[in-house]
Amino acid sequence: MNPILVALDVDSAEKALALADQLKGAVGGYKIGKQLFTAVGPSIVRTLADRGERVFLDLKFHDIPNTVAGAVASAVATGAWMVNVHCSGGGKMMRAAADAAAKTAGALGRPRPLVIGVTVLTSMDEAALAEVGTTRPVMDQVLHLARLAQASGLDGVVASPLETKAIRAACGADFAIVTPGIRAAADVGKDDQARTLSAAEAVAAGATYLVIGRPITGAADPRAAAGDILAQLG
Ligand code: C5P
Repeated sequence: MNPILVALDVDSAEKALALADQLKGAVGGYKIGKQLFTAVGPSIVRTLADRGERVFLDLKFHDIPNTVAGAVASAVATGAWMVNVHCSGGGKMMRAAADAAAKTAGALGRPRPLVIGVTVLTSMDEAALAEVGTTRPVMDQVLHLARLAQASGLDGVVASPLETKAIRAACGADFAIVTPGIRAAADVGKDDQARTLSAAEAVAAGATYLVIGRPITGAADPRAAAGDILAQLG
């Protein structure tokens, strides 16, 4: 499938649907995060899912297992194709999320969404991890949580471009890796993304899906920008 998931980091359903109209058929799906979801609610997920689009609902659930299971069940009911949780919620919480995804999808007669883990937020460095009591190097903690996610029944993890290769090696070919921070070489340093790879480099490093926002949504012609990126993937 087309691995490009476009981050709909906008504040209204109109803007999100206008982008989806422009990009229809040119990308593999859309990522809806906390900004859009909090502004307009689950109807935007339903609307896109009802149009046959894949929606990655990026709400990063992190709570007690029972609450996360309920949130995942609600996400499945919206038609989300991929959901995510924080791995630091623990194995029991991740298992509850995976079980709720399977159970609710079965009850509703729809495909089970992919359940993806967030290992260490890329905004956190070693000092920030130490502040919350984790003294391992960042990469060790990322791999530890990725392995725990896999052992707890998750389908994959979100990973920075710099972590993708090591996670692919640690978790094998069947584990999904969702990689943001994609920039063309010419655009490196233009915005707040510091550690980036090109789309082709990220796929070569083992990424399964690429989350791409501004390089597509901020382009004069988003559809052409998506097409250019896809062409680079061969
Ligand atoms: O516009 P840009 O391509 O930077 O958008 C990337 C998307 O991926 C944004 O929604 C951003 O929040 C998200 N993301 C990220 N880096 C992470 C995790 C998520 O850029 N480590």
